[in-house]
Amino acid sequence: MRAVDIIIRKRDGAELSAGEIDFLVQGITDGTVPDYQIAAWAMAVLWRGMTIRETAQLTRAMAESGASLDAEAWAPGAVDKHSTGGVGDKTTLVVEPIVAACGLPVMKMSGRGLGISGGTIDKWESIPGFRTNLTREEILRQLKEIGMVACAQTAELAPADGKLYALRDVTGTIPSVPLIASSIMSKKIATGARAIVLDVKAGTGAFMGTVAEAATLAQWMVRIGKRAGRRTVALVSGMFQPLGFAVGNALEVREAMAALRGEGPADLREHCLTIAGYMLHLGGRTRNPRLGRALAAEKLADGTAFAKFRALIRAQGGDERICDDPSLLPSAPCRGILTAGKSGYLAEAHAGKIGLASVRLGAGRAKKGDSIDPAVGIVLRGKVGDPVRKGDPLCEVHAATEKALAQGLSELEDAFVIKRGKVKPLPLFYKSITK
Ligand code: URA
Repeated sequence: MRAVDIIIRKRDGAELSAGEIDFLVQGITDGTVPDYQIAAWAMAVLWRGMTIRETAQLTRAMAESGASLDAEAWAPGAVDKHSTGGVGDKTTLVVEPIVAACGLPVMKMSGRGLGISGGTIDKWESIPGFRTNLTREEILRQLKEIGMVACAQTAELAPADGKLYALRDVTGTIPSVPLIASSIMSKKIATGARAIVLDVKAGTGAFMGTVAEAATLAQWMVRIGKRAGRRTVALVSGMFQPLGFAVGNALEVREAMAALRGEGPADLREHCLTIAGYMLHLGGRTRNPRLGRALAAEKLADGTAFAKFRALIRAQGGDERICDDPSLLPSAPCRGILTAGKSGYLAEAHAGKIGLASVRLGAGRAKKGDSIDPAVGIVLRGKVGDPVRKGDPLCEVHAATEKALAQGLSELEDAFVIKRGKVKPLPLFYKSITK
């Protein structure tokens, strides 16, 4: 078999065989297919697409290109969740302890932030001392002991995806539904959890700009998950405005802790309870997601979810005193308020623009490997649909310097729109996709 023939067949619109896809993934993994051929093939896929059969095969081959974690063997019934990323998305920090408090192990590996999309690992690492680079043995032991783990993806997990993604990143071949779906699902399948809840975001602060695009991606991922024998559900959720109020790493940890105490923004609470409800249902704890949501709410109310959060911080070397005293989290020296220029209703809090402003403040990375400042970010003071009076605060900016503060405040002016007439609140979820 020759890589060039596979590229030509895909260029001409043919459906590749399982053997051809396995050959390519083997070549990506062991380096026998050079980068220029992999990149040419990815471009052919971007233009020609792949069938669901090809995509499922690519996913399986990438999932098997490294060591599987086999979470199911260590923590039977383990569930996983995945968010396609957004602005202010601290869902994992809240949902993991809730689900673990309900007795269901959560096998979740997370990534770092890139571009406007925040990363859960960066959020956990804003807790002083918290370690996320756990070994495979540490991950599995902790999963068994406390039923949850907050770790970065290990290098041996789906290495073919790591190499392919790096090439796609520099060859303009990221925006292909089959390539995105197989990339995400290969890592989910390699962790070994039998049930997966996907939170697919749609909006200005997300990969997928529209609900229709997000639903297409969600459907592909659900179909791949099912073909791999995983119980998989996808929820399409809104990312037109940030989730909750806080955007920025330590600020989001503070807000996640508030949610775990039963406080914090209503949209964040509702979002987390819904996701947790689906995880509990898919993991077999409850007969349906509604009962899952009720069980999740119980664990928030009785404090067991917060106790799990504390146990997780302790297990991973973090300073657990932050649970009682959030002021021990990093905090920025300069703060300023952006106020409303007129009265009316908040019609837009543009997630994309707010995400970009937070990256410029130092909360995120423009490119892979950049360092971030855990303390900085933005805290909104309202959500779309809220009434606003002239002079009311729209958001508070937390910056490292007075110059960055002034720049952040000026950039953010453009992110908010106030209209005279009433504005409806935005939906949290648009669709659930089960097949
Ligand atoms: N996230 C991934 O892991 N892969 C993609 O291709 C896109 C987003």
